[in-house]
Amino acid sequence: MNIIGDQAAKLRQIVTENGGVLEESTPHRLRSIAITSGKGGVGKTNIATNLAIALAVKSNKKIYILDADLGLANIDVILGITPKFNLGHMLRGEKELEEIIVQGPMGINIIPGTSGVSELANLSDEAREDFLKKLAVLEEEDGILIIDTGAGINNNVLDFVLSADEVIVVTTPEPTAITDAYALIKIISGEKESTNINLIVNMIRKEEEFELVTRGILLVAKQFLGLDIKKLGYIYYDDVVSKAVLSQDAFYILYPDSLATKCIENIALHLLDKKDEIKDVKRPTFFKRLLGSIRRKVGS
Ligand SMILES: Nc1ncnc2c1ncn2[C@@H]1O[C@H](COP(=O)(O)OP(=O)(O)OP(=O)(O)O)[C@@H](O)[C@H]1O
Ligand SMILES: [Mg+2]
Repeated sequence: MNIIGDQAAKLRQIVTENGGVLEESTPHRLRSIAITSGKGGVGKTNIATNLAIALAVKSNKKIYILDADLGLANIDVILGITPKFNLGHMLRGEKELEEIIVQGPMGINIIPGTSGVSELANLSDEAREDFLKKLAVLEEEDGILIIDTGAGINNNVLDFVLSADEVIVVTTPEPTAITDAYALIKIISGEKESTNINLIVNMIRKEEEFELVTRGILLVAKQFLGLDIKKLGYIYYDDVVSKAVLSQDAFYILYPDSLATKCIENIALHLLDKKDEIKDVKRPTFFKRLLGSIRRKVGS
């Protein structure tokens, strides 16, 4: 052990002897980031998948990706993976978390949601407790959970979005996508006191488009909702995205030198840069909040 490590160990010992306040190691907490949009087809699933891979490459954290979209074009389709089991098997007590997780490129861990997502609302108290117990280890990890949601403003999507620590709203420069993004931001801000909303503009053709779109949304959100939205980044329109979808592999892996890959890399670095945002380890973790919010609605 080096000198600093040695001193740290001593300090821990002293503090523990004087009242046992400090734990052996600092508690960790999984950072949860939901990717969502007002309008469909703006690139959420492609961004979620490639961003997860970029985060795995650029950090030493364990990266999870939860497929919470009930629609088509899911992560497994994009990556050419056929999961045998999903969240539903875990909810029914048939499988453990490790058994439903599928390994993706660069060691990312895919949690297939599919039918399990809709079963969350109908759990008995016992099944709920059991589910949370099984997820406790995951939620204490020093990792990142990316949640790919469906589009639009429905309860299913909102539960996932409101339960995450951070939200990434994806839009394109299209006027309809922008209006829908703003409508979604308005709903999120009305439902949650402390919102951490970040914006990605996908499929831009030139950088000015990013400035134009973000300036508009940021201004209106500040003026009418009193909300500070952060610019997270942009991704150029790039043919490699659809080519990679056809090849059923990530563009980050197939086209490492492409514009789309560079953009995703920038976004990953930006996210890793603001790693200190989750300071409150006592705040309920993602799955606890998710089940809590579903239970309140069912009970009310
Ligand atoms: N930067 C990009 N450049 C070119 N094409 C893109 C880009 N991003 C996404 N696409 C294309 O847009 C389409 C929709 O992408 P994707 O499925 O990721 O969107 P989504 O928001 O997840 O859709 P849904 O709302 O249906 O879940 C795909 O055909 C994809 O190839
Ligand atoms: Mg999708």
